[in-house]
Amino acid sequence: MNAHDIRELYLNYFKDKGHKIVPSASILPENDPTTLFTGSGMQPMVPYLLGESHPGGTRITDSQKCIRTQDIEEVGDNRHTTFFEMLGNWSLGDYFKQEQIPWMFDFLTNIVGLDPKNLYITCFRGNEELQIAKDVESAELWKKLFEEKGVEANIADFPEKNGMQDARIFYYDESKNWWSRAGVPNNMPVGEPGGPDTEMFWDFGGALELHKVSEWKDEPCHVNCDCGRFLEIGNNVFMEYQKTENGFVPLSQKNVDFGGGLERIAAAKIHNPDIFMTELFTPIRTTLEQLSGKVYGEGEKEVYAFRVIMDHLRGVTFMILDGAEPSNKDQGYFTRRMLRRAIRFIDTLGIESGKCTDVIKQVIDTYKQAYPALQEEKERILNAVEKEEEKFRKTLSAGMKKFTEITASLKTGEKVETKDAFDLYQSFGFPFEITKELAEEGGFTIDEEAFKKEMQKHQNMSREGAAQKFKGGMSDHSDMSVKYHTATHLLHAALLEVLGPQATQKGSNITPERLRFDFVHGEKLTDEEKKKVEDLVNAAIKEDYSVSFKEMTVEEAKEKGAIGLFGDKYGDKVKVYTVGDPNGAPQAHLGAKTFSRELCGGPHVEKTGTLGTFKIKKEKASSAGIRRIRAILE
Ligand code: ALA
Repeated sequence: MNAHDIRELYLNYFKDKGHKIVPSASILPENDPTTLFTGSGMQPMVPYLLGESHPGGTRITDSQKCIRTQDIEEVGDNRHTTFFEMLGNWSLGDYFKQEQIPWMFDFLTNIVGLDPKNLYITCFRGNEELQIAKDVESAELWKKLFEEKGVEANIADFPEKNGMQDARIFYYDESKNWWSRAGVPNNMPVGEPGGPDTEMFWDFGGALELHKVSEWKDEPCHVNCDCGRFLEIGNNVFMEYQKTENGFVPLSQKNVDFGGGLERIAAAKIHNPDIFMTELFTPIRTTLEQLSGKVYGEGEKEVYAFRVIMDHLRGVTFMILDGAEPSNKDQGYFTRRMLRRAIRFIDTLGIESGKCTDVIKQVIDTYKQAYPALQEEKERILNAVEKEEEKFRKTLSAGMKKFTEITASLKTGEKVETKDAFDLYQSFGFPFEITKELAEEGGFTIDEEAFKKEMQKHQNMSREGAAQKFKGGMSDHSDMSVKYHTATHLLHAALLEVLGPQATQKGSNITPERLRFDFVHGEKLTDEEKKKVEDLVNAAIKEDYSVSFKEMTVEEAKEKGAIGLFGDKYGDKVKVYTVGDPNGAPQAHLGAKTFSRELCGGPHVEKTGTLGTFKIKKEKASSAGIRRIRAILE
């Protein structure tokens, strides 16, 4: 049984259970502005999960082409890819836990033939604040199924603190066992459907030592610790809630949304944690080996290059298939970026130029049975790739030379000038990410925000600001990042209040560890000014303001005193976030009813009281007339 068989067996298994097999939707989402690409099988199903009737009935199954752009940085390890196929089955107000869990167990153990001893399960711990109960029903169902197979299956809680505890089934909180397009409950916008989930993991245990792929992390190891021992192979979402202004309410119907990565189930089947060793990659891998004369698995750098090429060219093939030909805009920019990056890595393997299409042909051959359109569109895909490679080749060596030139005089840690990076983009066709990678390899820094601004100035980006979406769409918003996002609004308002109206935003960068904010101001802040700003932000946190948003026209936003970057990238309607009373006029004063109003895509926390204590860690010049603050929440 290989990966292709698993896809077919899965679809037929659910067909036998009364499901209608539907073809994969396009990788370019329709009427779904939340992501640049379809990132899960559930996305095209949203209207049906919300109650619209599906022409195929209430039981649907498919294998959905997906791209998760946010994972591009992770590609190179043994498990991450940008493109993947998600096997999915849906109950649209039809069956629920009592059917889904036994079917899944049956499919994995009896049809795919996975040893239940290597399967582990997670369930939702429940959350009083959200008024959503612990999912004991799922845990008990799984337990019974394992025990019927003679496999011990204890249930344990707090594995993140107490480790494995000789158990097989574990409870986790909403950061692990909750699913919505926007991630955790707090990040979900009003109207968004979501629910608790129960996930299945494969234990690679001994296989890891065999293949020496990754070291296990420090104790205690648990299924969600990301050490590499366990791999999530499927997620059963019980999509039964909808977010409202006042918390969660039941949807009009209880749904099941199952999604499982085909690559990962196939990796479990061969008990090899390197998904690039599954049959889905074999023809591509072999072709690369032939072209390069290298053997996959030898040399850390080479393994990395192999994986990037395999992933990117496979993704590019499907992206072009669905209409995202390489370009400077939106999805096409991502295709360009992936293709050009793959070409750079092809070069590092010593493969002669012009061989991209050899690899693409293998991708098409591998997938044409499951996705017949690939064969029909073969010529168009190959042409697009060939043309793009030619284009890139023409400027690649000149661009590399240019990069060497502009960095020749830089010392380690110094910044690559934004205008030089932009020149590499405009005159040499280097996507920003390539310049960034080269800079990082060389030990230099680079200002992404400034580059984006420069891009906007030249209007090479779409109105929607595709580059921003590359940061990961919604799924990248960890809880801390969201908090820093809201803290940034408070800081912006406080700076304008303390320093004067010139102190507008020039840049912002958020990680889960800190915020960084650039603004217009001629001189160093005095200790007194810094303290005033801190105090004001902390007062706003203490006020525990509600944060809400409204969509309005640019004119209306300006009239209502909103601050922020009024570029044309936002289009006519903009999203405006208000901290405090949504009807009041914003005033960053102690005790004001409305503290700030700002143009922004979100997401934000619901109440400022959750932010903790705000502290400025550093204040320095960023460039002439621009100051930079780094701040943390404690
Ligand atoms: N929609 C769920 C996921 O993507 C199944 O994990």
